Amino acid sequence: MIITIDGPAGAGKGTVARFLAEKYNLKKLDTGLLYRALAKEVIASNLDPQTHATEIVALARQISIESTNQEDLRTEIVANMASKIASSPEVRKILNQLQRDFAHGDPSPFKGVILDGRDIGTVICPEADCKIFLTASSEVRAMRRNKEGGGTPHSHGEISKIMVERDTRDQNRKVAPLSAAENAHIIDTTHLTIDEVCSRAAYYVDQLYLKKKNINS
Ligand code: C5P
Repeated sequence: MIITIDGPAGAGKGTVARFLAEKYNLKKLDTGLLYRALAKEVIASNLDPQTHATEIVALARQISIESTNQEDLRTEIVANMASKIASSPEVRKILNQLQRDFAHGDPSPFKGVILDGRDIGTVICPEADCKIFLTASSEVRAMRRNKEGGGTPHSHGEISKIMVERDTRDQNRKVAPLSAAENAHIIDTTHLTIDEVCSRAAYYVDQLYLKKKNINS
């Protein structure tokens, strides 16, 4: 079973993915961490995405699922660089393969997989069993990110600005822009508590289980 969660920064993807992974015993991949792991290397090597495309592609080849287990990936500076390098089709091609291998590998001892990101339901796993797309107003998303902190001392205004910049880039890039798959369940989380969002998402997964049970009986 493959479940996908897409949406912009701060919409609640991470929390919902963790909740569903635990509830349904699913192996989880936060695909943004792959882009962040690469961004961290790019920053450390002082590379400019505009002028060092070849070097960045070479670094992308060294990224693996294990790269997501590092510390220091959750800052807005890393996120901002991640969104810059994520517009490269060559980089995406390399990281897409890692994500597809994860989605289609043997999940045991888990019952299935859950991936969250920007293009999981549209590009990585268009065949997924259940697709969820989370949205929220940009004010609320910035407020949530601000509470999380991410280890960077930015003011609320700065976080909002960086986030809007990142959203605009993610939504308008030529390859795999952030968008909901046609058959995704869309949840606007602006006025919902995290518990409400999790139970709505779980409702869609329960529906899927019921459908599968009916087909098999
Ligand atoms: O989800 P997260 O905020 O960690 O993602 C960081 C950046 O990585 C995003 O802003 C986006 O540009 C990129 N990304 C992507 N496709 C994904 C996951 C993340 O382009 N599937």
